[in-house]
Amino acid sequence: MTETPDWSPDWSLVIHGGAGSIERHRLTAAQDSGARAGLAHALDTGSAILSDGGSAVDAVEAAVRVLEEDPHFNAGRGAAFARDGSIELDAAIMDGHTRAAGSVAGITATRSPVGLARRVMEASPHVLLSGAGAEIFAREQGLAAAEPGWFATDERRRQLDELLARNADAFDVDMKYGTVGAVARDRAGHLAAATSTGGVTGKRWGRIGDSPLIGAGTHADDRSSAVSCTGSGEFFIRIGVGHEIAARIRLAGDTPQVAADTVMAEVQALGGTGGVIVTGPAGEALWSFTTPGMYRARATAAGLREVAIYGDE
Ligand code: GLY
Repeated sequence: MTETPDWSPDWSLVIHGGAGSIERHRLTAAQDSGARAGLAHALDTGSAILSDGGSAVDAVEAAVRVLEEDPHFNAGRGAAFARDGSIELDAAIMDGHTRAAGSVAGITATRSPVGLARRVMEASPHVLLSGAGAEIFAREQGLAAAEPGWFATDERRRQLDELLARNADAFDVDMKYGTVGAVARDRAGHLAAATSTGGVTGKRWGRIGDSPLIGAGTHADDRSSAVSCTGSGEFFIRIGVGHEIAARIRLAGDTPQVAADTVMAEVQALGGTGGVIVTGPAGEALWSFTTPGMYRARATAAGLREVAIYGDE
């Protein structure tokens, strides 16, 4: 549970780089400082857009693109390996003003999955494209393909090898890294959310998590909230976390923090773990997580700027 500051109805931005067993003794100094630098870069990139009067959609896409390029995080370069050694990426983006949404699943060759999700939202009549069809659409849209091997890193390969050596399943792994995401409120009062992920290490190929499912891992509605999730996606899908938080705010009158904490308690009660970031119509910028840590950062027009990893920060 997080203490809630007073908010002002101006721009605000929250980002995450995943939740899990993230404790001081588990991270090297280089991992700690590298992750903080990556979060700060993404936060500053999105904040610059919002403080210049840019849109929430532009800010969340830009922040997530930075995290996709950073191998510290499980999205784009540095994504988790599936059990067969492949890398399949999922991403989504939603505009809370129009409730337009775009998402992609099972991406293997497009450098920015969140950039492709945005093209699905804006240049196709569809919401979710997957696999080969999504890649063809990406090339038609002129989006950059990834160099062969671009997404793979030695650290993620080591994590898969460790899991296979233990003959463990994807949810038996000591998950340190997850999805990345961003949520924002812009100066015009519009909300947006974006999420991008490699999923969970050792997943079955073809498995799709919560991130690209609108209403589960990603959701935005100007009337209530913008939400991006990280964690054991199957549980977030079963609860419909993004939409459930929105519904609690809009229909039950919860504050965004109460809604986020209540829905994360439901995830935990079913056996899931993870976290959410949320922005609200009044400029709220908050998170809630059930894990020892969550890579996270937030900034507001009022001067709040925070980068944190561990639960006690
Ligand atoms: N939350 C990311 C996933 O389960 O794929």
